[in-house]
Amino acid sequence: MKSIVVYSSITGFTKRYAEWISEAVGADCAFVDHVDSEKLSQYDVVIFGSHVRMGDVPHRERFAELSKGLKKVIVFVVGGSPADNPVIPSIFKKIHKSIPQAKSAPQFYFRGGMNLEALPEDERVYLYKQIRMMKILSFILFPIRKTILNVVYMMSHNSDNSSKESIAPLVRWMQL
Ligand SMILES: Cc1cc2nc3c(=O)[nH]c(=O)nc-3n(C[C@H](O)[C@H](O)[C@H](O)COP(=O)(O)O)c2cc1C
Repeated sequence: MKSIVVYSSITGFTKRYAEWISEAVGADCAFVDHVDSEKLSQYDVVIFGSHVRMGDVPHRERFAELSKGLKKVIVFVVGGSPADNPVIPSIFKKIHKSIPQAKSAPQFYFRGGMNLEALPEDERVYLYKQIRMMKILSFILFPIRKTILNVVYMMSHNSDNSSKESIAPLVRWMQL
């Protein structure tokens, strides 16, 4: 089966996962801006990978456009927060709305990290806006205050929680 991993990444964590996956399953690997629908139509399986940005995946509509007409599509997302962040199922809900084929695969969420120095200026401004907004929300959504403040802490400090082992369920699923 011919497969390709197509990813978007700003600070490199999703790129790292894309490369690990492509190596593990013997797939090609390409940055999202370097492929088009014609190229993807040559593959039996397309694996889209995106970083999380404010509870969504920034290239969702681009992935949706590229996935039109494809039969087997798998999506993985890479976020800074732990896998038990209650927002993650809603991210996949949005993905499944845009890319219905992805519903036939499990939800693959991998933990990335924060590399504040590698963020372009506009992303950094956006990040600080999001942190301010979450601090306000933590007072309004008091019952989940601790979860929100943990995410705020995670977003304000450099970290690397990426792990090659965590791709195992996706690799197994590809081998089914
Ligand atoms: C502006 C901004 C918003 C973010 N929003 C979220 C978020 O809502 N949830 C989350 O888990 N991580 C969030 N993150 C963390 C990124 O998903 C994390 O750093 C990820 O590893 C980045 O992947 P990349 O290195 O491939 O760009 C955000 C990061 C930035 C810069």
